[in-house]
Amino acid sequence: MRSSQYLYTFRYEITESELCKLESRYLFHQEEKNKVLVSDIKTEPSNSAFIKGRLNIISSSHDFATLILEIKKEGICHEGFKIEYLVVDGDTTAYSDRLEKLMDIGYSIEGIPDYYKPTITYGLCYFDNIWSFGILIKNNFEWFKHKQKPYSYSNSISMPIAKALVNIAAKADKKSKLLDACCGVGTIMLEACFAGNHIEGCDINWKLCENARENLSYFNYTANVYHSDIIDIHMRYDAAIIDLPYNLSSRATDQDIAHIMESVAEITDRLVIVSTSDMTNLISKVGFRIADHCSVPKSGKTKFTRQIWVCERIG
Ligand SMILES: C[S@@+](CC[C@H](N)C(=O)[O-])C[C@H]1O[C@@H](n2cnc3c(N)ncnc32)[C@H](O)[C@@H]1O
Repeated sequence: MRSSQYLYTFRYEITESELCKLESRYLFHQEEKNKVLVSDIKTEPSNSAFIKGRLNIISSSHDFATLILEIKKEGICHEGFKIEYLVVDGDTTAYSDRLEKLMDIGYSIEGIPDYYKPTITYGLCYFDNIWSFGILIKNNFEWFKHKQKPYSYSNSISMPIAKALVNIAAKADKKSKLLDACCGVGTIMLEACFAGNHIEGCDINWKLCENARENLSYFNYTANVYHSDIIDIHMRYDAAIIDLPYNLSSRATDQDIAHIMESVAEITDRLVIVSTSDMTNLISKVGFRIADHCSVPKSGKTKFTRQIWVCERIG
């Protein structure tokens, strides 16, 4: 009934909405709408900060009674299963009705359920006038462990932004070779390693390089961190992420920013830049064009807006 294999649900703050949509354009070639997306592309929910879960659809139908028949036909038998109802945009099913539907599904599966320590979790969802049933893979938030990294930095980017930058840079290709050109303490590198991406880092500040190395080894990740001015890096990368100095506590002049941009432009054809100022002129000056863009307002004590620029080499 549903032609796509996976239904994804999302969770994000209003300030992260543009970033989540930008990430989903690169992961799924489409935007999530009202925190739901259906796709044939399989991605790991925990590799994004915004994907709440993925429903691996087993059966779907416009009609709930037909869905139950379809599930029975599957002959599912699993000890210790659990079923969850995913409430998504447009679903007005009353709570009592939802519980009843979960019971109906429970009776269609062989095995004794276990709601506290399930061996498998199934999901039921009503979206776009279609009932979908399948295996639910949730974001396990294991990446939260990175909060415990030994070294932090006042200029570090947040984990949700770091994860999105990796996904946007890699475009879901685990083989692509990424560079974190101004890696600081390695916040972006940690998320790339967690997701199984290939990444290297570089920073001009030796102390921050040491901190990045220790942060990586604390979680048993292996990745090269070069203590170098970016101009001296000559390897080629499929994409480079540049979290530019913001001029807040890591001071940088316009010349410093131009120097970083010109240097990175020499070693890749694809850039994902984080800045707090307009980069339009500099991006074209180094021979790139803006393929996509979004803003991420920062809340908290220091309020400013980060700009994320996805750029490709012209010609
Ligand atoms: C905004 S911070 C990056 C923070 C990092 N994403 C993190 O989460 O820790 C910018 C970094 O650029 C580095 N940097 C400045 N000029 C550089 C250059 N020419 N080559 C390499 N790194 C440079 C600074 O040392 C600083 O760590």
